[in-house]
Amino acid sequence: MKIASGLLTATLLVAQVPRTYQGKQEKLPREVAAQPVAFSHKQHAVAKLACADCHPGAGSKERAGLPAASRCLACHRTIAPDHPEVRKLSEFEKKGGRIPWVRVYQVPEFVFFSHASHTEAAIGCETCHGPVAERDVLAQEVSTSMTACMSCHAAREVSNDCQFCHALGF
Ligand code: HEC
Ligand code: HEC
Ligand code: HEC
Ligand code: HEC
Ligand code: HEC
Repeated sequence: MKIASGLLTATLLVAQVPRTYQGKQEKLPREVAAQPVAFSHKQHAVAKLACADCHPGAGSKERAGLPAASRCLACHRTIAPDHPEVRKLSEFEKKGGRIPWVRVYQVPEFVFFSHASHTEAAIGCETCHGPVAERDVLAQEVSTSMTACMSCHAAREVSNDCQFCHALGF
């Protein structure tokens, strides 16, 4: 009886699996390694900066972009210059200015994603990244799986053709 009901359950489960793609499981929120300079979006909310002040491509380019040390030092040459994290900024500037930020959201190379078209479609940053401005430390909070992309596209009647997001022959 136990085996029979087990078989029945298994058969029902198989029958229920939709013939659509089932992506890999993401465990969210997904934390990332410590950033090279401690930066809090929440703490900077008082400065009333626009997201694009530090992520200049978010509205018009493929990549949103991440800030170099000079962007931070525009304020921090005078604000809290002796803070140990701020001192690290000067060190990075001496070495060319690039800061090796640890990525939080990233899709594989073979996926085409551009911020420009999504911002033009008036989709807010928080839809794909969560309430960033309320966070001291960022973790991945929203899925970037193929299923997540496709379900919004389906809901908004945007194409879900394979080559829309993948170059042919990947
Ligand atoms: C528009 C000016 C501005 C910019 C640009 C800016 N900050 Fe700040 N930052 C502030 C202000 C204002 C504070 C709050 C200072 C306070 O609480 O006394 C602050 C606080 C900090 C602190 C904490 C200092 C403390 O005393 O606790 C760190 C670390 C920091 N910022 C790092 C950064 C980094 C890294 C960047 C670049 C990605 C950056 N900031 C860009 C204005 C700015
Ligand atoms: C003062 C500069 C500054 C401002 C303003 C700012 N950010 Fe950031 N942002 C950073 C820095 C530095 C990082 C890299 C460190 C981190 O992940 O916390 C970052 C990381 C991110 C990431 C993760 C990037 C990745 O690796 O995938 C997202 C998403 C993001 N910011 C969204 C926003 C949004 C949305 C706003 C506006 C509400 C905003 N940011 C405003 C400096 C800023
Ligand atoms: C439709 C979903 C979506 C929206 C809306 C969106 N993002 Fe992203 N964002 C992503 C994805 C997906 C990635 C990873 C891209 C990659 O790996 O090429 C990403 C990456 C980033 C990064 C990492 C650096 C980079 O350039 O890839 C930052 C910073 C970022 N987003 C900020 C923002 C900001 C600020 C906004 C609002 C103006 C925003 N995003 C709106 C999906 C979105
Ligand atoms: C919240 C809804 C939403 C999510 C999530 C979303 N998209 Fe889109 N996407 C749209 C809309 C709306 C458009 C149509 C924009 C237009 O009309 O140009 C679009 C357009 C596109 C385009 C074609 C325009 C261009 O940029 O060349 C690509 C490619 C694309 N999305 C890829 C992705 C990928 C990859 C993901 C997941 C990482 C994703 N999208 C997640 C809503 C979404
Ligand atoms: C709206 C964008 C979008 C469309 C349309 C799309 N994909 Fe994807 N695809 C993605 C994203 C994003 C990933 C990466 C997911 C991740 O981070 O693992 C992916 C990953 C993949 C992978 C790698 C394996 C995996 O499961 O991650 C394959 C294979 C794939 N897609 C095939 C297809 C095929 C075949 C189609 C057409 C039926 C298609 N994709 C349509 C966005 C899309």
